[in-house]
Amino acid sequence: MTSYVTDGTVGPWAKEKLECLGKYLHAYTTILRKQQWCEGFIYLDAFAGAGKAPLRQYDKADQEENLLLNVAGYISEEEAEAETYVHGSPKVALNLEHPFTEYIFIEKNADRVSELTEIQKEYGDKRKITLLEGDANEQIQNHLLNAGGYNWKKYRAVAFLDPFGMQVPWSTIEAIGKTGAVELILNLPVGMAIQRLLPKSGQFSEDQRKKLTEYFGSPDWESVVYEEKNDLFGMLKTKKHDAGEQLAKWYQKRLKEAYGYCPKPRLIKNTRGTHLYYLLWAGANSTGAKIASDVLKQGTAV
Ligand SMILES: C[S@@+](CC[C@H](N)C(=O)[O-])C[C@H]1O[C@@H](n2cnc3c(N)ncnc32)[C@H](O)[C@@H]1O
Repeated sequence: MTSYVTDGTVGPWAKEKLECLGKYLHAYTTILRKQQWCEGFIYLDAFAGAGKAPLRQYDKADQEENLLLNVAGYISEEEAEAETYVHGSPKVALNLEHPFTEYIFIEKNADRVSELTEIQKEYGDKRKITLLEGDANEQIQNHLLNAGGYNWKKYRAVAFLDPFGMQVPWSTIEAIGKTGAVELILNLPVGMAIQRLLPKSGQFSEDQRKKLTEYFGSPDWESVVYEEKNDLFGMLKTKKHDAGEQLAKWYQKRLKEAYGYCPKPRLIKNTRGTHLYYLLWAGANSTGAKIASDVLKQGTAV
């Protein structure tokens, strides 16, 4: 189990992600607070984590556990390393110069929810925080889209979706987009969780195909990732050498269709240059898109 600490240094790519997030949120709240028509602007962190400062190095227990999982083939070296970095997106949002009028944090892991409860206490009346324990998709549906009762003509929101894996199916992305008022900052883990589900052979069980189609919201992922090549033995299905990049481009196009704008994503790599995930922004506002495009440009955020 990854251990969270209250202080320490951030890993380079966690820092990169959090800096992009902080820059965009700062620009967003600076603009939104001046809009007289806007009754409230919400920050929703659907995979909130423990919410504390990231730690750069492994501690001994993590190192041993990750090594065991790695040797057993349950997680890749990159994932073992990535999971050891501790994250702090809730605090990035809470500490903005111009805060959101409301914060919603969702987290499935009970220990991390306890840590978030401490943060909630720490901020007291200074921030309006709703803490929800459970699955992000269900809570988004229940709290943000239904029971929340937000009038999207007068409210705006930014939803940060930062899972380790493929926990966000396209149906959730689509439902958020339909508000026309909620922007998305999303981690697309094409270098990690997704690649592992896309074998070179291109052979899938029906269940595996279904899972990928639910995630991408279309069966077309298969033709994006694989191509048919003619060899001595006839047609051979092969995985494209740049499958991750192709998937990111295609997903970006789909987000653009669903939200209106989706600038070029930022590729986040680990210290060895291995592709980890893409950071994407999608929304209905052209100014937001310009700012996001600037923030996500490679080499500008850190
Ligand atoms: C990558 S971490 C989040 C990091 C955090 N956004 C940050 O930058 O500081 C992913 C978190 O999602 C949580 N999680 C995993 N599956 C979930 C689900 N279905 N619903 C809500 N949270 C989930 C994990 O417990 C973990 O804390």
